[in-house]
Amino acid sequence: MKGLLVTGTDTGVGKTVVSAGLVAWARRRGPVAPWKPVESGTAEHGGRPADAALLARCAGLELEHVCLVALSEPLAPVVAARRAGVELSVAALDAGAAALSARGLPIVEGVGGALVEVSEGLMVADLPARWGLRAVVVAGNRLGVLSHTLLTVEALLARGADVAGVVLNTLHAGPPSVAEQNNAAELRRTLPAGVPLLGTVPFVAEPEPEALARAVEGVALRLFGGRMDVGQGAQGKR
Ligand SMILES: Nc1ncnc2c1ncn2[C@@H]1O[C@H](COP(=O)(O)OP(=O)(O)OP(=O)(O)O)[C@@H](O)[C@H]1O
Ligand SMILES: [Mg+2]
Repeated sequence: MKGLLVTGTDTGVGKTVVSAGLVAWARRRGPVAPWKPVESGTAEHGGRPADAALLARCAGLELEHVCLVALSEPLAPVVAARRAGVELSVAALDAGAAALSARGLPIVEGVGGALVEVSEGLMVADLPARWGLRAVVVAGNRLGVLSHTLLTVEALLARGADVAGVVLNTLHAGPPSVAEQNNAAELRRTLPAGVPLLGTVPFVAEPEPEALARAVEGVALRLFGGRMDVGQGAQGKR
């Protein structure tokens, strides 16, 4: 089964929440290989790549398997890497991606939005086709997301991505605004043919693996359905 490349409409829209939920959900059915190839802004989390750490926890893996390059400053990867004197090697990124499927179902979190570079000249939106992954677009449910989602999907399709669909993610507790109440229906109406709205993810007050898996269950079933078979050693099959 093809793995996933989880991108989004922007930074801070819930890519990690959705990726971590999918990792926690898929792990019950077989081995998973989560990956956050490049993570910037680790200085804000005591030097640890926090996204990779949550993905690792949801998979029951050590952090070292989940992050290739961790960068301290909260900047676009190429800028953070240049300032730190770190090389973002395309060969190392490609090799890391190629090694994933031997370990389990690849679930790869992008960085920032779809047209962010992971190395100079190589954008997140190039990765699904390059690495043979299906793209999932996490759309933060707020005013403005309709245009951001359609732009993201267009950019992915223009780069030859197989776009599995869009996940509308709730970014706050409490009652939704009028825009937030209408975004799902508007996306269903305006997304290109063949790109479904996979579902809406609720606000998860305590983002622990179990709660995250429950929150993405509907999305996971749309993505994997009964076809989920990620290898031997599947535990807790339901
Ligand atoms: N459904 C949700 N329930 C609860 N909190 C959420 C939800 N979605 C996002 N958040 C919170 O919003 C913040 C941003 O979410 P997240 O880290 O998943 O975004 P991201 O798109 O992965 O960002 P980045 O570009 O930094 O990787 C986090 O503090 C996260 O816990
Ligand atoms: Mg993230």
